[in-house]
Amino acid sequence: MSLIENLQWRHAVKAFDPNQSVSQENIDKIIEAARLAPTSSGLQPFKVIVVKNQAIKAQLVAGALNPDCMKECSHVLVFAGWQDYSAEKIDTVYDMTTDERGLPRGRFDSYTSMLKASVAKKSADENFEHIARQAYIGLGLALAQAAELKVDSCPAEGFNPKLIDEVLGLEKLGLKSIVIMYVGVADPARDWIAPMAKVRVATEDFVIEYN
Ligand SMILES: Cc1cc2nc3c(=O)[nH]c(=O)nc-3n(C[C@H](O)[C@H](O)[C@H](O)COP(=O)(O)O)c2cc1C
Repeated sequence: MSLIENLQWRHAVKAFDPNQSVSQENIDKIIEAARLAPTSSGLQPFKVIVVKNQAIKAQLVAGALNPDCMKECSHVLVFAGWQDYSAEKIDTVYDMTTDERGLPRGRFDSYTSMLKASVAKKSADENFEHIARQAYIGLGLALAQAAELKVDSCPAEGFNPKLIDEVLGLEKLGLKSIVIMYVGVADPARDWIAPMAKVRVATEDFVIEYN
């Protein structure tokens, strides 16, 4: 199936079968798609926290707008971003990049100096907004990868980030939750939205062309 057909196939699942689980192999592929996402300046300022542990999921339920999804999906992927950018983090990424490419450290100094000056001018909140935008690219690719694998999922912003961050100990890791992806096997009997048509604005209303 083509990417378009897979995107037509997927939908935001409302109820998962608690007795079925997605294979580790497929979870790994979904995470890999997020890891390969392009990010601004290649900083990859987010991580994916994978929660399969039922006891931890149970603690997260209170912070979910879709408590059934939290409880019954087989894996909760929490996309969590750096709390802020810093010169040190930028150096860490660029040192890794030059090392892996066999280039001298500092090869990109003129660019990273500009980048450090640019993030230093902005508030932590403004920087976090930018960080979150990178995480959403990862989410998009993860959703597309899940669709290709015919793995059911639901993206979700409906959660209490304070509770999620606290349960997962994200603050200590210098991270803040941004968006969740529930992954599991849909329960057709309760996934009420499944039979409904996918609705999108018409292409002519979506695209503005200057030819
Ligand atoms: C960033 C984002 C956040 C979303 N948050 C929620 C959510 O909290 N709960 C939920 O049931 N659906 C959520 N959705 C699902 C959307 O409602 C759904 O993707 C949209 O209606 C289009 O339907 P489809 O994905 O089934 O094609 C979210 C989707 C995205 C992309």
